[in-house]
Amino acid sequence: MKRSLTSVATAAALLIAGTHGVLAAEQISVLHWWTSGGESKAIRVLKDDMSKQGYEWKDFAIAGGAGAAAMTALKTQVISGNAPSAAQIKGPLIQDWAEQGSLVTIDQSATDWKAHTPARIDSSVKAGGHYVAAPFSVHRINWLWINKADLDKVGGKPPTTWPEFFALADKFRAAGITPVAHGGQPWQDMTIWETVVLSQGADFYRKALVDLDQKTLTSPQMVQVFETVQKIRTYFDKGYHGRDWNLATAMVISGSGGMQFMGDWAKGEFANANKKADVDYICAAAPGTSNAYTYTADTFVFYQQNGKKDATPGQLALAKTIMSVDFQQQFSLYKGSIPVRLDVPMDKFDSCAKKSRADEQATIQSGGFLPSLAFGELQSPVTAGAITDVVTNFMNSNEDPKEGVRKLAAAAKVK
Ligand code: GAL
Repeated sequence: MKRSLTSVATAAALLIAGTHGVLAAEQISVLHWWTSGGESKAIRVLKDDMSKQGYEWKDFAIAGGAGAAAMTALKTQVISGNAPSAAQIKGPLIQDWAEQGSLVTIDQSATDWKAHTPARIDSSVKAGGHYVAAPFSVHRINWLWINKADLDKVGGKPPTTWPEFFALADKFRAAGITPVAHGGQPWQDMTIWETVVLSQGADFYRKALVDLDQKTLTSPQMVQVFETVQKIRTYFDKGYHGRDWNLATAMVISGSGGMQFMGDWAKGEFANANKKADVDYICAAAPGTSNAYTYTADTFVFYQQNGKKDATPGQLALAKTIMSVDFQQQFSLYKGSIPVRLDVPMDKFDSCAKKSRADEQATIQSGGFLPSLAFGELQSPVTAGAITDVVTNFMNSNEDPKEGVRKLAAAAKVK
């Protein structure tokens, strides 16, 4: 009798354990778009951390900067009933998914988050008073990256105004260097355009892109924005169409390109190529934007699994790990961002990250800390998409800036 009970118990254990004889670990499926050199290094830290905790990581990495392809894949997965355990989502989309009732709350993992996170980001990861997303880090968008050897070669200095910028671009061109390394994809076009909007002042950016104020959108200042963008375009090389952002960064790393407008994930590429801030490259606030800070905060949301309303142990562990001090530090060192947690020591970070932290804090005080439209932090995908179409069409045609402004004002009304 005793013997047969033992064998029943063993058989049951084997059933649970599956064919490998070990208890099956919870599988965590994760959808994200971090596929460049620096990005993959950063997400691997999380994967390794979760593996050490005994979870099996199933990676859904969907290439495509800024995540447009990833968002399409995500919708397909959710509609077909295969929602991932976690997905990279940000801005108003977090609330949209929460309203649809697809997400789980992760309050249990978020016990000390509020005290250590910038208030605006803390509220953006909640829905209905509950935490539904875990924030990784803060990326600054309004950067200009400059190859230091190129800069020294032409005897230039980081430009703080548009006239200085164009003067430097002319020097680069005369020296046979592509002045502006750019990838002609809609979100990269938006990065430049949005940064030029910001150069008209934080108030102008707020009225134009946060409030979508028609008077500001149609102002002579907005015409100037389009004129400036049109002029910047004349400093791209011929091969810019469709180029991925990290290939444009590679041009600045090698020195074939002098400058790039890009968020500080570009720094992840410099770091991955063993290049050092201030020695090999310079990070400067884009012309006219030193007192402002456009940001995007990467976050993961957590989808209900197998129709259960509660988070799984793996989801709770993932959320907790993302917001742990050690992970936050290592992730941002690879990614080029700054930790979203304010209590992470900054001594291991370079001068760009330290400047980013200082400017983040200063602009939170001054009102210059602004969500990025280009990176889905601001308007609904419909409105942001309509504006993106206008900007991208403008950058790929010889449209009159006044016509660009007229179309922009109409796009801002698309809801
Ligand atoms: C952004 C994201 C960054 C970076 C970038 C390029 O949307 O916030 O983390 O990955 O896309 O892929």
